[in-house]
Amino acid sequence: MDLKNRDFLKLLDFTPQEIEYLLDLAADFKDKKKNGVAHRYFEGKNIALIFEKTSTRTRCSFEVAAYDLGMGVTYLDPTGSQIGQKESIADTARVLSGIYDGIEYRGYGQEIVEELAKYSDVPVWNGLTNEFHPTQILADFLTVRERFNKLSGIKFVYLGDARYNMANSLTVGCAKMGLDFTICAPEKYFPDAQLVKTCQELAKQSGGSIRFETDSQKAVKDAQVLYTDVWVSMGESYDTWEERINDLLPYRVTQKLMDAAAEDAVFMHCLPAFHDLKTGIGKSIGEKFKLDCLEVENEVFESEKSIVFSEAENRMHTIKAVMAATL
Ligand code: CP
Ligand code: NVA
Repeated sequence: MDLKNRDFLKLLDFTPQEIEYLLDLAADFKDKKKNGVAHRYFEGKNIALIFEKTSTRTRCSFEVAAYDLGMGVTYLDPTGSQIGQKESIADTARVLSGIYDGIEYRGYGQEIVEELAKYSDVPVWNGLTNEFHPTQILADFLTVRERFNKLSGIKFVYLGDARYNMANSLTVGCAKMGLDFTICAPEKYFPDAQLVKTCQELAKQSGGSIRFETDSQKAVKDAQVLYTDVWVSMGESYDTWEERINDLLPYRVTQKLMDAAAEDAVFMHCLPAFHDLKTGIGKSIGEKFKLDCLEVENEVFESEKSIVFSEAENRMHTIKAVMAATL
């Protein structure tokens, strides 16, 4: 499998075999790391990390993965460069690709990372845009595979706002890898119709399926994975919370929903999660709307069925695989 010099912008650009290869490579890197086997295959190379939105997991994963591979890293925060204000994406791409061997970008529209890739001579990796979060899906799938020893045929339910990066990328990933994927949301929160049409075609080829459900109790029957994301994403206005809470409260992952799912069901979340009031936003929203959690109950988040921290760890192993495969 040769992915050298490829960008990693969205899963739609990769075949199921290529995705499987990246997961296998990540599993191998994880094994090496756990056993203290050095893998500094890219000594002398350097990468740039552009973050126009904040991050814990993605930034740390790119940095540690790069160090493990022997590379140097420069982190450009939302205020630490000329990007956007004084220098265009096209110019930034041509400057950075003369200095670095790879560029990660987290920001707003997907078209920005696509433009960065168009003008860059080195691989560009999408660290999250409004529309897609492809490295997250690799981590999610590695975690599912570790738990169930397979991806194909897994009954996977996403609950919440399905119009954004997480649901879009999960829809593509599940369709490509043959999972039985259910989107559970109010109808107005279903994903873009064109993307769904494309994914329905992909699901036909992989033997997977995509189903839509507005009733959360019905959706989770026999489900093996219950997945959710924050109800208001980075870059959205604080005023959005009221409408989202009104619309999405029936889609919160509760203990009752977990009990209605399959016996071996797990809870997953890309994180960060509002499962209690121990965060600035969680506290302010919780007090304003008289809620003690938002998209997931603390009881579920802290339960044995919650595999969110393995999922977070797997961000690093999978991002390492993406860099090693494409550099
Ligand atoms: N899941 C995820 O992308 O987390 P960060 O925003 O912390 O990178
Ligand atoms: N939908 C969330 C995902 C965070 C990893 C956001 O974009 O903020």
